[in-house]
Amino acid sequence: MRVLESRIDTGSARYAENRAAYEQLMATLRERQAWAASGGPGRARSIERHLARGKVLVRDRIDLVIDGETPFLELSTLSGYGQYDDAAPGAGIVTGIGLVHGVPYVFIANDATVKGGSLLPVSIKKHVRAQDIALENGLGVIYLVDSGGAFLPLQDDIFPDKDHFGGSFYRQARLSARGLPQLSVVLGGCTAGGAYVPALSDEVIMVAGIGRIFLGGPPIVKAALGEIIDPDDLGGAVLHTRTSGVSDYLAADEREAYGRLREICSTTNGRAITERQQWADWTDPEPPAFDPVEIYGIVSADDRIPFEATEIIARLVDGSRFSSFKPEWGESIVCGFARIWGHLVGVIANDGIIFSESALKATHFIELCEQRRVPLLFLQNTSGYMVGRDSEAGGIAKNGAKMVSAVANATVPKYTVLIGGSYGAGNYGMCGRGFNPRFLFAWPNSRIATMASETAQTVLVDIRLAGMKGEETTDEQVAALRAEVAEQYDSQSDPYHATSRLWDDGLIDPVDTRGALGLCLALAARQDEPPRGPGIVYRM
Ligand code: COA
Repeated sequence: MRVLESRIDTGSARYAENRAAYEQLMATLRERQAWAASGGPGRARSIERHLARGKVLVRDRIDLVIDGETPFLELSTLSGYGQYDDAAPGAGIVTGIGLVHGVPYVFIANDATVKGGSLLPVSIKKHVRAQDIALENGLGVIYLVDSGGAFLPLQDDIFPDKDHFGGSFYRQARLSARGLPQLSVVLGGCTAGGAYVPALSDEVIMVAGIGRIFLGGPPIVKAALGEIIDPDDLGGAVLHTRTSGVSDYLAADEREAYGRLREICSTTNGRAITERQQWADWTDPEPPAFDPVEIYGIVSADDRIPFEATEIIARLVDGSRFSSFKPEWGESIVCGFARIWGHLVGVIANDGIIFSESALKATHFIELCEQRRVPLLFLQNTSGYMVGRDSEAGGIAKNGAKMVSAVANATVPKYTVLIGGSYGAGNYGMCGRGFNPRFLFAWPNSRIATMASETAQTVLVDIRLAGMKGEETTDEQVAALRAEVAEQYDSQSDPYHATSRLWDDGLIDPVDTRGALGLCLALAARQDEPPRGPGIVYRM
């Protein structure tokens, strides 16, 4: 594979300007991530109360379980951001992937310092998403349970529908049946529905004095039966480990529980992260020839100025080596083979608007990767498919559809990173959320919407004016309409709006992207070869 060349002048004024702007974006991201860990109204008091009870904070709990000196890939850290009056940092639940004895597990850990660890609608979405990741990547799940169960004021958005609370138990039962270990440590409340998390687990550890499992807590028992009972007598660790058998192990404190959990993990016979299967093409990794931090100076501070996809690829892939497919045709999409942390991957990256040729080239390349069993990486930065008379006459609709169809049916592992704009059907053809990439990450400069704000202002204002059927409108009224649309599109295409709602698996630093993708690819490489997909009918 050839080493890509770079045309970036790191001494230029434009580079310095972009870099300064990106560092500002990163400062905002870090500040908001810190908010997820310890911010929100009344949070300081609940953290203090949690620690005063001798309990460990949620991220420290995970650190105590995973192998020392190994990273934890936290997902959707900023879920809930800007929603629920900002009273649910991180949606009150931490999810991610970490190693125990070299074997990767999904972690689902309640944060009891946020609304008692109770689950809001977005918390359920996060919980269920983590289980779906476990299923697709063949991972066991470790539940660190400390939760008030369903967030009762919003019960109708949590309880009965598909993918609501019930969906999490459905998934847990099915994950277990697939031989993917479901392990729980009970570190706080597991009330009502929450009791089913440990009850559906393969093995359960309860911590004395803090862990409690009951279908109805003391207030309900008092109301229903008139019994007055101490919470520990009703559902404490001793009762459940020695009498009911709901729990398998009693731990005197959290640290003992995590030691026991690691002991259980040593018996699960799971595939280690390094156990690559034969279908997965891997060689020794090498770092990129160009420093990934230069991405900060490449991404344009002004989103009307494009930046080149190959400059980004050169800073993500091993040795900056890239074998470009059809480099002189359909140039607004860059396709080619590269390696990330040693794993062969087919990269599809936008260099602007998608034309018919670019859509066909991408379709062809997806089929090559599907034939050769090479995972696909989509780097999204597009305003969508080309419009206009020539483009329609050239069959952009059917050619875009071929690309969409190829993406939908590819069975090799797919990954998506939003490195810039993700607009219109470009989001779909480039493997957006609706196309089930195994992981979808976004950079803090990304934007996601049906169309860019300026286009929307023109389109929506025209529609509204047409609807007014010739009524006189002043320039001020038109300007006010434009401002209203701009406000809506600017706020809704903001990456924090997207990540808050789990349209992605998290906002990540461009510098960390290579590492995150390396882990994701390694997860797939340890699985059996994915089944080949169905034959597709392409509209010619
Ligand atoms: N729904 C909504 N809010 C809940 C909640 C729930 N299920 N469980 C806890 N909370 C909120 C509390 O209102 C409180 O909110 P605030 O910080 O705005 O005051 C916060 O979480 C902490 O609760 P608190 O009871 O003060 O904390 P605690 O550590 O002493 O007890 C629990 C935690 C989870 C054991 C206890 O709150 C509890 O039993 N909750 C109800 C559990 C239940 O019956 N769930 C039914 C689910 S179907």
